[in-house]
Amino acid sequence: MQRDIEKILIPHAKIAQRVHELAEMITRDHGGAAAEVTIIPILTGAMIFAADLIRHLPMRMQIGLLAVSSYPGRSVRSQGSMVLSEQVGNLRGRHVVLIDDIVDSGGTLRLVREMINEAQPATLKTCVLLRKPTEGAKETGIDYLGFEIPDEFVVGYGLDYNDHYRNLPDIVTLKPHVLQGLANA
Ligand code: IMP
Ligand code: MG
Repeated sequence: MQRDIEKILIPHAKIAQRVHELAEMITRDHGGAAAEVTIIPILTGAMIFAADLIRHLPMRMQIGLLAVSSYPGRSVRSQGSMVLSEQVGNLRGRHVVLIDDIVDSGGTLRLVREMINEAQPATLKTCVLLRKPTEGAKETGIDYLGFEIPDEFVVGYGLDYNDHYRNLPDIVTLKPHVLQGLANA
């Protein structure tokens, strides 16, 4: 895996610091430790981000799971989002925080937000670690954003290419030959 890395875009220490800051903002906005929330990470990409984030949140919480696929296999451009499975519990009247790894076209977040709003939560906030500079992404209102990144394909810290590299601690770009010839975009 290491030899496929081109450069480290965001090192793990910087991610950890930002995750802590995001958790403080979420805690403050939800009324502190006495609040109760439902956290919904969008799987699989947001798994590691969510796991780190929730350990900085002092309030009671339920965790709902939602699996969405938008980059099947070896594609590096969104192919349209699809909800694969859903286990979010009863969201009516709950304070929901939706967590995702990255917003590119914004399609995933729009789809999921619509779906959750139908369940009539009291509030719905979105927390996203990375945002690319696309028109769609800018139009997607994000309540808590970790980092703006250039329009490059990144992996690590939960993000994958063809289901690999999720376990890299840093957010990195891959060498062109790793993506070349495999990508269908
Ligand atoms: P969107 O629907 O186009 O906003 O894409 C969002 C989803 O695509 C994210 O939740 C990721 O799973 C995936 N994605 C977008 N950009 C990247 C990337 O650079 N690397 C890995 N996955 C990505
Ligand atoms: Mg995802």
